[in-house]
Amino acid sequence: MSENFVSFGEQGAQLTYGSYLRLPQLLDSQHLESDPPAHDELLFITIHQVYELWFKQLLHEVSAARDAMLGGEAGGRLWWAQHLLTRVHVIERVLVQQVDVLETMTPQDFLEFRQRLAPASGFQSVQFRELEFLSGAKDPAYLKRFRGITPGEKERLDARLAEPTLWDAFLAMLRSFGLPADTDEEVSASLRTAAHDRSRYAVVWALSEALLQHDELAAHWRARHVVMVERMIGAKSGTGGSSGSTYLRSRLPVQYYPLLWGLRSEL
Ligand code: HEM
Repeated sequence: MSENFVSFGEQGAQLTYGSYLRLPQLLDSQHLESDPPAHDELLFITIHQVYELWFKQLLHEVSAARDAMLGGEAGGRLWWAQHLLTRVHVIERVLVQQVDVLETMTPQDFLEFRQRLAPASGFQSVQFRELEFLSGAKDPAYLKRFRGITPGEKERLDARLAEPTLWDAFLAMLRSFGLPADTDEEVSASLRTAAHDRSRYAVVWALSEALLQHDELAAHWRARHVVMVERMIGAKSGTGGSSGSTYLRSRLPVQYYPLLWGLRSEL
């Protein structure tokens, strides 16, 4: 081996790629339920784990964007909120696109292990629900519908229900610009003011568009997921016990920020 390679990455011999990334734990976390092993179950587990890692990252970014906006104009960190929300959008596009990978699984191959999954379901994803709550769609009814939730997970959801949402932070930011935001009528009027005077309210407008983009991408994910589900299991009920695609279709109209959508009709 050439001299150049001998000590490459080995200075101090403390941290390695594998130890830093905890690869032994990470790569030992894919345990199949099927026996004999169904070929596609590894893909099914991997894709869900990848989603959960991205959900964790999104929670990190969205809560930091929320905190930056809570400081308002005087806090001087609105540029940071904009920067983070741009990252959030890119990650969310990845989340929509990677449904394609799972869709390379056929319904027959899924059936080889599907019956082993009940009552586990994506419906029980605590991080997904945290993200909805943090974004602005707080619905405490979900806490009752969760089966097998751990005390730690319940604490996390309760904390998300209690803390300010991205929308609360956006309203605080409006007020910091002298734009009234105590009632829906006031918020709508303030949004119109910002939309019609973009040179004066450039950051307000940019952040309102960033929130709308976040909302739109969440809608894309729900739409993409339900179509994939119908392709995979048709009209069958879900492993989580819901009506399946009927339940998922009932969630398509969810909007985090109806006033931002309403603005379009008022311009
Ligand atoms: C073969 C693939 C999949 C099928 C057949 C499927 C099916 C379903 C069904 C039927 C539901 C409704 C709840 C229930 O009764 O189980 C659901 C909910 C959900 N799934 Fe999936 N899913 C699949 C893949 C995924 C993946 C890869 C994710 C990524 C994390 C995911 C995340 C979710 C979430 C977050 C919900 C709750 C949605 C809501 O309440 O609006 N699913 N899924």
